[in-house]
Amino acid sequence: MRIEGVAKQKKSMNYQDALKKLTSVNQSQLLDYYDELTVEQKKHLLTQIDQIDLDTLKIQQQLLKQPEQQVLQELSPFPHPPVSGNPIDFARGKEMIADGSMGCLIVAGGQGTRLRANGPKGTFPITPQEHKSLFQLFAEKTAAAGRQAKRILPLAIMTSPSNHLETVTFFQEHHFFGLDPQQVSFFSQGTLPILDEAGDLFLESKETLATGPDGNGLALHHFFQSGLWSAWYQQGVRALNFIVIDNPLADPFDAELLGYHQRCHNDITIKCVSRKHAQEKVGILAQLKQKTVVVEYSELPKSLADDTQPDGSLLFTYANISLFCFSMDFIKKMAQNPALMPLHKAFKAVSFLDNNGQTQQPTKPIAWKFETFIFDLLPIAEKVSALLYPRDQCFSPLKNYDGDDSIATVRKALQNNDRRVFSEVTGLPCGAKLCEIPQGFYYPTPEFLKEWFS
Ligand code: UD1
Repeated sequence: MRIEGVAKQKKSMNYQDALKKLTSVNQSQLLDYYDELTVEQKKHLLTQIDQIDLDTLKIQQQLLKQPEQQVLQELSPFPHPPVSGNPIDFARGKEMIADGSMGCLIVAGGQGTRLRANGPKGTFPITPQEHKSLFQLFAEKTAAAGRQAKRILPLAIMTSPSNHLETVTFFQEHHFFGLDPQQVSFFSQGTLPILDEAGDLFLESKETLATGPDGNGLALHHFFQSGLWSAWYQQGVRALNFIVIDNPLADPFDAELLGYHQRCHNDITIKCVSRKHAQEKVGILAQLKQKTVVVEYSELPKSLADDTQPDGSLLFTYANISLFCFSMDFIKKMAQNPALMPLHKAFKAVSFLDNNGQTQQPTKPIAWKFETFIFDLLPIAEKVSALLYPRDQCFSPLKNYDGDDSIATVRKALQNNDRRVFSEVTGLPCGAKLCEIPQGFYYPTPEFLKEWFS
């Protein structure tokens, strides 16, 4: 197991340096309660102040002053991508996985607020019968893909400062769900300051600056900075399969995607599905000035989301599901320049310290959070294409406690997919009974099938 530190240790900042830094940008209010703090609390606050990147802060403040960009009218629909199911790409990808050309990165730093669950989202017990957690499911998929490839496959997990320790401990307590601890690496994403309506930094408690996660867009930058890129590249990894923790139908070692990615010599290959309906909360794939882009659902005007073709079908047909294959060479090129990633702002309800020194938790939005999005790498890349997959085989996100994309819908999708794969692999019907199959069915080997049929 390889664990990259959550916060890189360097010489700690003192009060005078902090005051100087903050005064230079008119933000010394962060030290208003400094004298009331304990030694530990002072250290914590000074570390946070030390971590503020003033160039990024300037960009954040400028973003608040800028009018919304109006380029969306120039968007055109994404051309129809080829459909998955090409046995040659699949066979080629399988060979490449067996050669050690692919590693998998799971981004698991999100907060999972909408799911109303405590702790890292990956620890959520999701499978319908055995209640395996998302982490267990992906670990078992990785182990099964490794048995098929006859090698130990590398898996990296991006956490956040707030769930890093809990995530690592979860894996340790469960003995890595049968994986070799050496094949699993953890590294943490970063945070960005939250700004109030005037564009100023503020405290959420006397000793803590209000910050939020920096989004999944810097995942490849953090992956590179952690040293994993070099380690994996030296081992022969040439493509990274990027998956999100909250979609249990994601395939951590997708042979066809890799085979197609290789055939197209892509920087990025997008795994996509058709949108279900105009209100679905997914980013849409589009083209802007000959480049591939995704417009996030939260930033998509209703008129564009609803836009239809003469036959009544959606004009912007394809959904981003945050599954990608990245070439390692492309990662190296862009990861060294995080400033390429634009920031997205959202007005949110966040905790703040009021004028009486009390922390308040408003229910209404009061401040600006900033995030980077992974799909903003698409227009930066030179060679991008997409592969269209059947939705029921690859996409059922766990976002909400109930309703759409919830625990119930995900469990149903997992069950349906297990039934389909069981019948495909064995030629037997699965019946209507609750059925949960081992992940070996998804990456079958002669040994697995022999054992299963005996
Ligand atoms: C995401 C996609 C959206 C897509 C939808 C499909 C992004 C930016 N948006 O939206 O286009 O249609 O999924 O379900 O990817 N994460 C981190 N750190 C962070 C924030 C997120 O690791 O700071 C991880 C989450 O753990 C999760 C994934 O990124 O695994 C997606 O993040 P989330 O914020 O849930 O994105 P959505 O709004 O659902």
